[in-house]
Amino acid sequence: MTQLNLALVIGATLLSACTATSQPAAPAGLPDTGQPALHAVSDARLRELMDQMNALMFERFMTQPEIDRERRIHAQKMADAAEKLGSAIDAILSRLPALNLNQDEQLTFRALAGKLGEQAHALNAQAKLNHIDNIEPMLDQMTATCSSCHTLFRKFGN
Ligand code: HEC
Repeated sequence: MTQLNLALVIGATLLSACTATSQPAAPAGLPDTGQPALHAVSDARLRELMDQMNALMFERFMTQPEIDRERRIHAQKMADAAEKLGSAIDAILSRLPALNLNQDEQLTFRALAGKLGEQAHALNAQAKLNHIDNIEPMLDQMTATCSSCHTLFRKFGN
């Protein structure tokens, strides 16, 4: 693939992932509730960017400085996506009343939402610093927080 083609493919992928009308499908195990997506930016979007960043390493026609440059651009996009995810925490919290949780459950729910916010913030900081190696493990931890909350509380909502 030529450099221009690669740039076009990446550009097209990013554009399509950014349009509000084409939300990524709910991950397996999270049936679509038919309601507006709870999180406009998900960790799936971050993973997609991570994959693109890693794929650059195998682009044969790029020189090392070009690869570095592209990865920096991707890291910046990850930083932006993580920031958006961080500001989606309010959307998660807005579901709280409808879930009819008791006091303890509400505490746990808020704690998990807060934890996700902190994780998104930390990821944003690392991506901004272009600390690429730190991003993947942080992403895994973030996904664990998503799952914890769904395991505990998704059954209450719908
Ligand atoms: C603090 C709890 C909590 C956290 C953390 C959380 N979610 Fe959710 N999520 C929910 C609840 C509750 C629902 C069900 C909402 C409903 O049906 O009213 C839900 C629903 C969803 C849905 C189904 C679509 C929808 O809008 O109903 C998706 C997809 C989803 N979450 C993705 C994620 C991802 C990805 C993360 C992590 C980046 C995450 N969630 C973190 C509580 C959480």
